Amino acid sequence: MAKKSPAAPVNSKGQAPINIGISDKDRAAIAQGLSKLLADTYTLYLTTHNFHWNVTGPMFNSLHAMFMTQYTELWNAVDPIAERIRSLGHAAPGSYAQFAALSSLKDAPTTPPKALDMVRVLVEGHEGVARTARSLFPLVEKASDEPSADLLTQRLTVHEQAAWMLRSLLEDR
Ligand SMILES: [Fe+2]
Repeated sequence: MAKKSPAAPVNSKGQAPINIGISDKDRAAIAQGLSKLLADTYTLYLTTHNFHWNVTGPMFNSLHAMFMTQYTELWNAVDPIAERIRSLGHAAPGSYAQFAALSSLKDAPTTPPKALDMVRVLVEGHEGVARTARSLFPLVEKASDEPSADLLTQRLTVHEQAAWMLRSLLEDR
C-alpha cells in the first residue's frame, strides 16, 4: 500500500500555504483594498511633505510645523498597512507607478499653491483616504478579519481628526 505523501511544503509558485481562517479569495480582495489604502496614504504623505517644504506667507511657521507633524504620522502609517498586506499573503505595492495606478488621490500640484489652497488640498486628501478606508469595512467584517478592521479604525480616526483640524483653518472665526 502506497504511503500517504506529506502535504507539500510549498505550492507551484514556491509559496508556503496559508491557513489563517480567511479564504484565499477574501485574502486577495482585502489585500487589494489595503493596497489602495497604502497608495492613498503614501500619496498624501508626499503631498504633505511637499507642502511643508513649499508653504509661504504669514502662516508659514504654524503650517510648516503642522505639516511636519502630519507627514511624519503618514510616513509611520505606511509600514503597518504594507505589513498587513504581507500577513495576508500578498505582495505590498511600493513603486510610484503602482501608487499612481492605485491611489484615489491626485498627485501633488507641480506649482506650489497658496497656503490656504494647500490646506484645502490636504482636507480633500484626508477625506479621500477616509473614504477608501471606510469602503473596506464590509469586506473585512464579512471575513472576520479583525486585525484589518482594527487598522482601518485607527486610520479613520487619524484622517478624520486631521481633516477637522485642517478644515478649521479655513473658517474665518
Ligand atoms: Fe523640515
